[in-house]
Amino acid sequence: MLHLTLESRLRAAVTVVLPDASTANVLVRPAADAKFGDYQSNALMTLAKERKVNPRQLATDVVAQLDVSDICEKVEIAGPGFLNFRLKPEALAGVLAAAARGEHLFFARATAETLRTVVIDFSSPNVAKPMHVGHIRSTILGDSLARTLRLLGHRVITDNHIGDWGTQFGMLLIGWKTLMDRAALDRDPIAELERIYKAVNAACKETPATLESARAELVKLQSGGAENLAIWHEMIRLSQVQFDAIYGRLGVKFDHTLGESFYNPWLKTLVEELVAKGLARESEGAIAVFSDGTLPPKTDPLRVQNREGEWVDDPLLIQKSDGASNYATTDLATLDYRLKEWQATEIVYVVGAPQQPHFNKLFRVFRRWQPEAAAKVKLLHAWFGSILGDDGKPFKTRSGDTVKLADLLDEAEERAFKVVAEKRPDLDAASQKEIARKVGLGAVKYQDLLSNRQSDYVFSWDKMLALTGNTAVYVQYQFTRANKVVRDSGMDQQASLADGQLVLGDPAEFTLAKHLLNFGLTLEAAADDCRPNFLVNYLYELATLYSRFYDQCPVLKAAEPARTTRVVLCDLTARVLRQGLDCLGIEAPEVM
Ligand code: ARG
Repeated sequence: MLHLTLESRLRAAVTVVLPDASTANVLVRPAADAKFGDYQSNALMTLAKERKVNPRQLATDVVAQLDVSDICEKVEIAGPGFLNFRLKPEALAGVLAAAARGEHLFFARATAETLRTVVIDFSSPNVAKPMHVGHIRSTILGDSLARTLRLLGHRVITDNHIGDWGTQFGMLLIGWKTLMDRAALDRDPIAELERIYKAVNAACKETPATLESARAELVKLQSGGAENLAIWHEMIRLSQVQFDAIYGRLGVKFDHTLGESFYNPWLKTLVEELVAKGLARESEGAIAVFSDGTLPPKTDPLRVQNREGEWVDDPLLIQKSDGASNYATTDLATLDYRLKEWQATEIVYVVGAPQQPHFNKLFRVFRRWQPEAAAKVKLLHAWFGSILGDDGKPFKTRSGDTVKLADLLDEAEERAFKVVAEKRPDLDAASQKEIARKVGLGAVKYQDLLSNRQSDYVFSWDKMLALTGNTAVYVQYQFTRANKVVRDSGMDQQASLADGQLVLGDPAEFTLAKHLLNFGLTLEAAADDCRPNFLVNYLYELATLYSRFYDQCPVLKAAEPARTTRVVLCDLTARVLRQGLDCLGIEAPEVM
């Protein structure tokens, strides 16, 4: 990609002028404002500051050593030392021709030096509970991150850390044994499990004896009682069937589904080790890791400010007073396992905002437990906000219940079907249904990925299914248009296309081509910090620029070389849109 070529030449020029300077931060990026050029670099100003030299003088010296005349017009030094690069149309056309020949699609794949091994912990619903909209963001965000990193050539390991252990099973076991309606379980297993859980939970609050027997059932399960283990396995199996149905619809796959229970064999020794190392200690019968006091309280996850404004301990509990371990113990064991088993260089946890204190404490305790391993791994809690209803409160059904994911996906497909049936009455029902499926599911995913993950967003059927505006259906539609032009053109000689055959004349062509070139940078930015919204907005802009180009530049009726150039632009736009949508887990329909 041209910015990489510019970057490496700029680094070489810097090295000539300042032989001992580190050039790792010398970057060339798309210009913020097209007025000033196509790419820019502000690296020389930072460098001049570090070295206490005049930035304009440094820029002048570096530019004197910089030969980029095959790619750019004369390099401009602006203000205190910005460099502005304006691309030559021939250079841009050359990149397009290479892409048309299939040599690249505007992004570079990881090399042996840049390869990352990223474990992505996402979705992670709980057994015996329906997946609700809270799990949707994790599932959609995590899947998109996995797809993007994989496209960039990294080693990705996806792991669904399902909640299949914990105190709720004591109540579920009693419910199963005393309240269960077999016929209801066969009809809708999750609904029946949810019903018995709620009933027992309520009973526990009323009668201490029920609570006692729930505890006893849990102990029997945890100590390996055969009957309880069999029931527990059955509950997991029934839940997994429901999860798999949803993942199937969403096109989401996992490499591993190692639930919380998988880590049971390690928990006891883990607690013992932390105690032996002096990291954890007993506190009111429980065992916890307290602050070591080496961090300022503000940045110490193991301290919180109480109502009086005093900093007090907020330890990480790893064993309850009844001897049972908990969510945190499991997560410590899980982290350890992922590093040892998969040699992860990064672990990303795609989990909602409320769990920030948990992950902050977890990472901190892990750092103290295994400082060397921790120094080598990047741990990221890619947290996200909530989905809100029109009223600005957490998204609920009209009757006030939590919205179930399966119902939501059904409704998305039904609503999309109405739109498709109205717009395309000429298509048969099966085709209409297939388009509606891609449009409906695409709309849900796109809306979810569109906003910055850390903000809450208001769920709106009307907005997400609007035919114009920043929506999946708009992007999908521009894809089908571009694709159709390519089909109608009958052009199939792209593999042998010569650089000189493409000539960019019209500003609309130029603008579209430059945006195509930014695909790789966008993918990297989206993958680096789990921010698919960068990609969503990039694709929307591409679709908009394409539509403008299409309005302004006739394609099939144009004379050569404009015709070939424009068909190639349509083709590359279609390919980038399809690839980009694929990174969001959204299918691109051939017709709409
Ligand atoms: N099951 C948990 C929940 O639904 C999410 C688990 C997230 N992953 C983790 N390693 N803690 O809240």
